[in-house]
Amino acid sequence: MLIPLLLIAVVIALVLALLYWLLVTTEGVYLGKRVVIFLYDLYAPRYDKIKEYQPPYEYYFLARPILGEIYPLSDPLVLDVATGTGRLPIALCDHEDFNGHVIATDLSRRMLEQAAAKMQGEARITFLRCAAERLPFPDNSFDVVTCLEALEFMESREDALRECVRVLRPGGVLLITNRINTRTMPGRLWRDDEVFALLESFGMSVSQSEPWQTDYHKIWGLKDGESEPIGTAKWKRGASRPHP
Ligand SMILES: C[S@@+](CC[C@H](N)C(=O)[O-])C[C@H]1O[C@@H](n2cnc3c(N)ncnc32)[C@H](O)[C@@H]1O
Repeated sequence: MLIPLLLIAVVIALVLALLYWLLVTTEGVYLGKRVVIFLYDLYAPRYDKIKEYQPPYEYYFLARPILGEIYPLSDPLVLDVATGTGRLPIALCDHEDFNGHVIATDLSRRMLEQAAAKMQGEARITFLRCAAERLPFPDNSFDVVTCLEALEFMESREDALRECVRVLRPGGVLLITNRINTRTMPGRLWRDDEVFALLESFGMSVSQSEPWQTDYHKIWGLKDGESEPIGTAKWKRGASRPHP
């Protein structure tokens, strides 16, 4: 009697461990897009608390380098793919030199709701719910495209990256992150040189990667060719959120 009970206990423990790994450790990534987005919808209200974003860190390591890359353009049209709770648009709008506009997209409605709640009254951000793999914008539409800490959760990272490059104008700046902690997501992650090769095949010139937080590298790219900045100076701007 004891041995079957022990066996049942072991099986239950293994199933629970597997479920924890599938739903928590790897955030649903092996179960498909619907599960990933369901989990982000579920965790959205607690997401910022879990991540503990520090505004000065975002200012120095996100907003400042992006504005440095595009200098002297200060009114870029920016696309942030998989924006989550709006980390990138918030960092840009908090920078005193940013006079552009950010279109912030995500597939999780609840994540976008959190972002929008934080940015009420900010006229320089537009939120849009759409999949990264099929962006609803024409080719060559943005001065800057970013996608941070999200590609590893997507069913087709190749499609998402191809879309990021497609909507970027020639000469525009791409900033993405590559997750490098391969222990937690076996088979789901790329080496940096694989990302470089993919981006180059899409028509990007890629600079070296640099460390980004614990599990990531930041990768910068320039889309081959040249074109006039898109900019937003011609847009009529409304009221902006005061800088903190
Ligand atoms: C770890 S969060 C990163 C959010 C934000 N970029 C940041 O750095 O805080 C990953 C985000 O990717 C979004 N996401 C996952 N798969 C997606 C897809 N296929 N299309 C669009 N967004 C997706 C999730 O909803 C989530 O908000």
